[in-house]
Amino acid sequence: MRIIKVNAIDSTNSFVRKFYEGNKDFEPVCVRAIIQTSGRGQRGSNWMSRAGENLTFSILYPQQKLNISRHFLLSATVSLAVLEVLKEYEIPDLSVKWPNDILSAKNKIGGILIENILKTEGIVASVIGIGLNVNQQDFEDLPRAGSLKKVTGKDYDLDELLENLVARIERNLKELPHRTTEDILEEYAGHMFRLNVVSSFEDTARNKFNGIIRGVTTEGKLNLEIEDAVFKTFDLKEIQLLY
Ligand code: BTN
Repeated sequence: MRIIKVNAIDSTNSFVRKFYEGNKDFEPVCVRAIIQTSGRGQRGSNWMSRAGENLTFSILYPQQKLNISRHFLLSATVSLAVLEVLKEYEIPDLSVKWPNDILSAKNKIGGILIENILKTEGIVASVIGIGLNVNQQDFEDLPRAGSLKKVTGKDYDLDELLENLVARIERNLKELPHRTTEDILEEYAGHMFRLNVVSSFEDTARNKFNGIIRGVTTEGKLNLEIEDAVFKTFDLKEIQLLY
């Protein structure tokens, strides 16, 4: 896949989306920004990343009218690809905090924001945005943020790491249509942060309650056991894991 490096742009996700509007026939492409002026995160948050120290990039990936119901499988596949590469870099204690925060121990080292381009016939392209904290060492006001360097003490070559990530994501996305839903969900669940242990959650009304993460549904809802053998599913807007 072609990788384009740009200096400063608002958001690589917004950039590749505009690229799609002008090029409906396209090969997969990856755009990496040295600095984003309005990097976006999940739940309407901002994504802050220091210039030149980390990876902020988006992949524009064509889809053959992917059914919207398979969206989460794509998201899980991307999270797993990132974990696979980081494991090869010997980053310890990796997990994915639902739906797609990349953690090393309790520290968030990466985040993924996937925005699908949806037409009446289905998803025609996916914008896969990834922010990975690599060589940045201090994160003021963000006690839970981490980076590869913070975890291992080593410096990383950003270009090489990006090439490895993009190659693995592309390979896994090509395999996706040949894999069963159960297989992907099982692999994803096996890497989930706080799987099968009692955790605290907060709902939109700020009520706190305990539950045990037992996995995810095909649509990517969190499956919680809230009492003995009583299960309830939640989507991203409905719940937050407190940790
Ligand atoms: C999260 O909230 O955890 C998701 C963060 C995703 C950030 C990346 S950085 C590259 C791409 N461009 C954006 O504006 N956001 C994503």
